Amino acid sequence: MVPSNKHWWIRRTKYPKQKKHMPIYISSIAHFVPPDIFTNSYFEDKVDTTDEWIKSRTGISERRFQTEGHLSDLLLPAVEQCLKERGIGPEEIDCVIVATITPDNRFPSASATLQAKAGMVNAWGYDISAACSGFLYGLMTGAGLITGGTCKKVLVCGGDKMSSILNFKDRTTCILFGDGGGVALLESTDDDSIGIQDSILRMDGKGGQFLYMSDHGDGAKAPFEEYPDEIKQHYVIQDGQSVFKSAVVGMADVSAEIMERNALTADDISWLVPHQANLRIIDATARRMGLDPTKVIINIDKYGNTTAGTIPICLSELHHEGKLKYGDKVILASFGAGFTWGSILLTWGIKS
Ligand SMILES: CC(C)(COP(=O)(O)OP(=O)(O)OC[C@H]1O[C@@H](n2cnc3c(N)ncnc32)[C@H](O)[C@@H]1OP(=O)(O)O)[C@@H](O)C(=O)NCCC(=O)NCCS
Repeated sequence: MVPSNKHWWIRRTKYPKQKKHMPIYISSIAHFVPPDIFTNSYFEDKVDTTDEWIKSRTGISERRFQTEGHLSDLLLPAVEQCLKERGIGPEEIDCVIVATITPDNRFPSASATLQAKAGMVNAWGYDISAACSGFLYGLMTGAGLITGGTCKKVLVCGGDKMSSILNFKDRTTCILFGDGGGVALLESTDDDSIGIQDSILRMDGKGGQFLYMSDHGDGAKAPFEEYPDEIKQHYVIQDGQSVFKSAVVGMADVSAEIMERNALTADDISWLVPHQANLRIIDATARRMGLDPTKVIINIDKYGNTTAGTIPICLSELHHEGKLKYGDKVILASFGAGFTWGSILLTWGIKS
């Protein structure tokens, strides 16, 4: 049973700041979203909902769905662009990490499938199942591999083909999600002034009852929109209000805490790149940090919630629009199923 304490799932433990180590930075970033756009009106024909309800309650106007192919096909263009922009070949990657809840298969891993498709012949790799926090978990475990001396170049991918696990008859979930992903290359640098500065990653499995999919099977390979009745358990199940309340507190807490323990004011932060689950959750986080809304990256209106894809897609768009400058202080913040949540503070290191 859920204890009566309003925010029972939050551990108030203050985690110690990490020791200073060799800086690890994002040396290249790219993203991919499928070309097919589905506006809110698409759902008006399917379930009892309206464009106005979806926009006002979530901030979403449209999303992309991948009507053919699987997660690896969605991530592959982003991998190729990421490597091209860094000017290296796929054989230079030592490890590929894929954060996702919608791998092509239960096994082999999404990382193995992607490794083969992209020709990353010298890479080993693994998947991370941390839902919307997957990219943050991936960045920190990938950085750890470099710090530990195991790898030099780690490709961290975050993406989901949520359309393959949505129940298009459930208005409370199907309108929220989209398909897409992003890819970041992690490397070490001698430049002390850039890279990942700090992180706070958290998890509380007691939140699992509020957002889950009971079994995977071939769910992520089901044809677009068409689910045979016998596999209809392969859907996202969510208690939206419970997730909402927890996300508002969790994402804001870790974002404020990472500022506080690094003695940063709102003026010091160039960008907040939050997980894109609901505009109201993002607004609450930004308010708690005291951030000017112009520093908050929002693209939920275009893509909905792409789960592990939201943060790398936002970062990649910001970078490719030329807004992200060398030396910018960026806070990444996430909340997702598990519950998992966290924040990462980094100083942007790609010179434009
Ligand atoms: C799902 C979410 C948008 C619902 O918004 P909400 O303001 O909490 O709405 P409620 O769940 O209280 O539902 C209010 C009413 O709208 C209805 N409703 C739900 N979905 C609807 C839709 N798509 N269209 C129209 N009405 C809808 C509900 O059935 C309910 O009706 P009732 O009052 O007659 O029972 C919101 O809870 C949310 O974003 N939660 C977090 C989701 C999330 O981030 N998940 C990903 C992991 S981070």
